[in-house]
Amino acid sequence: MKLYDKHILPYLTHKICSLSPATKQRQKIVPFAEGKILEIGIGSGLNLPHYDRDKVAHIWGLDPSIEMWARSEITNGELPFPFEFLSASAEQIPLGTNSVDSIVITYTLCSIPNVHAALLEMRRVLKPGGKLFFSEHGTAPETHIRTLQNVLNPIWNIFSGGCQLNRNIPELLKESGFSFEKLDSMYIPGWKFASYNYWGVAK
Ligand SMILES: C[S@@+](CC[C@H](N)C(=O)[O-])C[C@H]1O[C@@H](n2cnc3c(N)ncnc32)[C@H](O)[C@@H]1O
Repeated sequence: MKLYDKHILPYLTHKICSLSPATKQRQKIVPFAEGKILEIGIGSGLNLPHYDRDKVAHIWGLDPSIEMWARSEITNGELPFPFEFLSASAEQIPLGTNSVDSIVITYTLCSIPNVHAALLEMRRVLKPGGKLFFSEHGTAPETHIRTLQNVLNPIWNIFSGGCQLNRNIPELLKESGFSFEKLDSMYIPGWKFASYNYWGVAK
């Protein structure tokens, strides 16, 4: 693995994901997850402090990047709920069908290579009536920002671990059979081309 992917990218990703606008977004969805929870693309574990300990039975944190997880400032012993890190990709989730009550995903749908396969896997592991809690950046509402996203995308994704600027998050979720219990969107502070956020709850 290249030096950039192994050391610099995890460091930069952790720093950017730690910024306060993203933290405010996490607080809007993570505390509502309950029961047996799967977090997809747990990265450096920045959502872990935002779970409601009284609602959590167990959390699996899945990520293919051990380097990202190594950036976590939390150790298992400190967590007030059972936790297990899964070294795996969302396209092949190593959990049984209908096995989790909630899925949490933040700033990760942009980076998953086969996002359709990953969303189908999420539907497979989610119990009937289970919920997907998400906060993601994606395609902007204005044509000129969308054009900028499309122009920057080929260069951006080389340096950002495959992050795509222009994914239409609501459409991707709908195409994979999810329906929305809640869906909000707005710009959060940051570079406009990377900061149009979609968040909510899907079933
Ligand atoms: C921008 S980071 C976000 C990390 C974390 N979710 C957060 O909100 O801070 C994107 C994460 O997606 C992970 N990722 C990339 N490809 C993935 C895949 N196929 N399945 C699951 N996670 C993936 C990366 O390793 C990285 O940790």
